[in-house]
Amino acid sequence: MKHLILVYSLHGSTLKTAEKIAQGIREGGSSVDIFKITSGELPSLKPYDVILFGMPVYYFAVPIVMEKFIATLPRLHEKRVYAFFTYGTYHFQASDHLRRILRKKDAEVEGWFYSRGADFYYHYNTRGILPSAGHPDERELSDATEFGRNIAKRTNLADYPMKSTPPKVMYRAEMLLTNKFMVTTIFQHLFHLDRKKCIRCGLCVKSCPTQNIERDANRYPMWDSKCTMCLKCEGCCPVEAITSVAGWKFLSPIVDANVKAILKDKNIDTQRIVYHHGKMQDNVKK
Ligand SMILES: Cc1cc2nc3c(=O)[nH]c(=O)nc-3n(C[C@H](O)[C@H](O)[C@H](O)COP(=O)(O)O)c2cc1C
Ligand code: SF4
Ligand code: SF4
Repeated sequence: MKHLILVYSLHGSTLKTAEKIAQGIREGGSSVDIFKITSGELPSLKPYDVILFGMPVYYFAVPIVMEKFIATLPRLHEKRVYAFFTYGTYHFQASDHLRRILRKKDAEVEGWFYSRGADFYYHYNTRGILPSAGHPDERELSDATEFGRNIAKRTNLADYPMKSTPPKVMYRAEMLLTNKFMVTTIFQHLFHLDRKKCIRCGLCVKSCPTQNIERDANRYPMWDSKCTMCLKCEGCCPVEAITSVAGWKFLSPIVDANVKAILKDKNIDTQRIVYHHGKMQDNVKK
């Protein structure tokens, strides 16, 4: 059996998880390749019997970049399909979202795996917190390897059901505000660049996972329309010259309320951090 893992990972947690799942698949006696979906041209899916989709949860949903990627795939009706998520706080109904997206390709997910992953959401980090710091931890990574072994051997698959919980009321408005329609039609066109601050270093251009930022004739960044709202550009700028919609003042009370809820939640390992000028303090465990 040939396995292919299709993964999107910006800060490394999902990729780490993918590598452990791949290790398990090999230990189970099968072959596996990993393809990062933002890394170039996808190889043909024909030789593969099993496809795994791995991604972080973004805005309680499948990241737009993964949704768009899946839309480009052929029908998957002859493949066995598995999925895994990493998430920093709450995944709510992200799995239902992925299931709907994959059903458009005639694919049914046979097993689901979830792990926490350090949450580098810029507007949490600048408020001094890193949710799920230190995740995925050793136990989660060893569970990922076991998931891979079970996929290869087709054993214990009932141990990997889909997990889905309705969002708490306070998150519903946020989900409406951050859905794909809002991002692709409105928010991605509203990045603000403070030209007085910008030193034209190009870091934001290099950091964008979807190559959505180019330079204008004067070498200032300009945004195109392939944004996945990861906020990496905003977060990496050494002079804080970029403001996305998520940084607008009217949204502050929502983010503040999220931070309060995260700090209260004993199930989330949250580390206090200091983040500014595109960087976190050195002593922070990723
Ligand atoms: C833009 C953005 C949005 C996020 N939204 C959510 C979310 O809605 N729920 C959640 O649990 N985690 C959320 N996270 C946290 C990531 O899902 C989590 O940290 C994940 O492990 C990151 O994976 P990566 O390191 O492979 O990029 C978000 C992170 C970013 C950067
Ligand atoms: S990272 Fe900041 S300073 Fe550098 S080019 Fe981008 S906006 Fe300008
Ligand atoms: S433009 Fe910025 S927020 Fe959008 S995908 Fe690129 S780095 Fe992420």
